[in-house]
Amino acid sequence: MIFETHDENETWAVAKQFAATLRPGDIVCLEGDLGAGKTTFTQGLCAALGAKRAVTSPTFCIVAEHPAPEFLVVHMDLYRLHGEEDVLQIGWEDYLARGAVLVVEWPDRAGSLIPVHAKHVRFAYGEDESVRKISLET
Ligand SMILES: Nc1ncnc2c1ncn2[C@@H]1O[C@H](COP(=O)(O)OP(=O)(O)OP(=O)(O)O)[C@@H](O)[C@H]1O
Ligand SMILES: [Mg+2]
Repeated sequence: MIFETHDENETWAVAKQFAATLRPGDIVCLEGDLGAGKTTFTQGLCAALGAKRAVTSPTFCIVAEHPAPEFLVVHMDLYRLHGEEDVLQIGWEDYLARGAVLVVEWPDRAGSLIPVHAKHVRFAYGEDESVRKISLET
């Protein structure tokens, strides 16, 4: 399904709908260019799940934990990492063993650590500056 959003609030609404489908252990790959809306979507996702801690996009923070009532949400921005070894170093397998939901920006950095059953959300720019196309697999 492809959604077209026109501002951050609409992207949050799409994230809320997607959040309802998540189960412990899910891996969510957020794919799209710089500024396409991956972090904004994660903010909406965490808010919808009832996580209290603010989602940010800090330059030097690769992993952030967002405890929610049903499961731990772990937001990862792998942009600055260089491969699977780096990704393992930040606790990838421990988080999965704990039943966390992993929400991953720049998942290509994780290579073959991304399982076939991962969920993919794709972000693309639209015609106008504030238009985004968000595709969810169903
Ligand atoms: N429809 C929209 N949905 C989401 N964000 C939008 C939209 N329109 C404009 N924006 C703006 O686009 C930017 C999206 O930034 P965001 O940090 O979410 O992108 P990102 O994909 O995480 O980028 P990066 O790869 O650099 O981490 C924000 O500045 C936001 O205000
Ligand atoms: Mg981001």
